[in-house]
Amino acid sequence: MDRIRVIGGNRLQGRINISGAKNAALPLMVASLLTDEPLELANVPHLADIASLTQILRQQGTTCSMSGHGSGADGRVLQLHTKKVTSTLAPYDLVRKMRASFLVAGPLLARCGEATVSLPGGCAIGTRPVDLHIKGLEAMGAAIELEDGYVHAKTKTGLKGARYVFPVVSVGATENLIMAAALAKGTTVLENAAREPEIVDLGHCLQAMGAQIDGLGTSTITIEGVTSLSGARHTVLPDRIETGTFLLAAAITGGAVDLVDTRADLVGALLPVLAAAGINVAETPHGLSVERNGARHLAVDVETEPYPGFPTDLQAQLMAFLATAEGTSRIKETIFENRFMHVPEMMRMGADIETDGQLATIHGVQRLKGAPVMATDLRASVSLILAGLGAEGETLVSRVYHLDRGFERIEEKLSAVGAQIERLKD
Ligand code: EPZ
Repeated sequence: MDRIRVIGGNRLQGRINISGAKNAALPLMVASLLTDEPLELANVPHLADIASLTQILRQQGTTCSMSGHGSGADGRVLQLHTKKVTSTLAPYDLVRKMRASFLVAGPLLARCGEATVSLPGGCAIGTRPVDLHIKGLEAMGAAIELEDGYVHAKTKTGLKGARYVFPVVSVGATENLIMAAALAKGTTVLENAAREPEIVDLGHCLQAMGAQIDGLGTSTITIEGVTSLSGARHTVLPDRIETGTFLLAAAITGGAVDLVDTRADLVGALLPVLAAAGINVAETPHGLSVERNGARHLAVDVETEPYPGFPTDLQAQLMAFLATAEGTSRIKETIFENRFMHVPEMMRMGADIETDGQLATIHGVQRLKGAPVMATDLRASVSLILAGLGAEGETLVSRVYHLDRGFERIEEKLSAVGAQIERLKD
């Protein structure tokens, strides 16, 4: 298994291009199941998760081909075409690799009247059930049975519009139900829906395909079902988690970096946190620039929340930053029950962190020291790289396959701005 070696201490300086968002590209790809016409997605990042979903879609009859290079509206384009759904089964072997593949349930049910999708199972960051996806589809008239680890969903007369109130905010369940409702009969109203920019991006693509959706970006989304959707071309929005990760990487190293092809509004919850810590971030015509004013940064208290709150997907990276802040910071993780697995690894590098349930108390130390560490999930992996960039000496991060699921060419992007980082192939 590959490892990543980081020698800490270099100030990052230069410009980094931000890729398209993984968590927008995945549901957008699934939307191709809703139409028999081609769907073209530009600015698709080159990631292991995208390849895994391509495998699932192919098994359902979608032809997938990638062309072009790079990011932006003219960058890499993924062409998807599901002329006919040839299988309504999403098998365990493929779904267990990536939970987002459960998103095929709603579109398959809406287009074909049936779907058999493996339950994804738990994962390192928590139990992550799919009960809300199931209850929402049931509210729309689907008959659902759970058997042998599979969700068997059927509807004889097609899905019907319904009112569904989410008991907790769920990104994936909101996406699944919007897609199902787009082809249902009548009006669906989703309340306490998730407001993440990736959901708005999915909604815009569905609208371009002919869907009737109101209230995107608010907690009440109304979808008027239509009988069919057409093809479209859509550009995936910039990755806000990659944006936030590089802002924090620059801040940790006391560097000055320009991030291009991204937007300030996507990291609206991170900017006040960075400002309170003493990091200057400014909006530029193409994205953001970040600079530390020389002094040691300050401790901050943060709680993760659904959008527009502070994202759980930046919590580990923020902790790497706060590990060397002046003073004591507190982070409360409210989204997933087991998302502090990077803590013991950071402590091996000299961080002083206590955890008590969902609360982490971080007593800032002057400097971390490089050490061999192990990645446990995608965002934890990158947080260890960030910790390594600011640490003294060598950090060796193993199990970096997690990283390849969600960060495009990260070693290349970081070394281009002066980091000493390399991949060791095994
Ligand atoms: C999405 O996961 C993201 N994944 C996650 O990013 C992200 O951490 C998460 O949203 C929260 O922002 C994708 O977009 C592909 P949820 P999702 O449903 O949709 C509970 C990354 O690193 N819940 O909003 O699976 C759930 O257990 C990943 O890129 C239920 O109880 O998250 C969690 O506590 C990791 N029942 C909370 O809701 C359900 O049916 C929020 O989960 C669904 C969710």
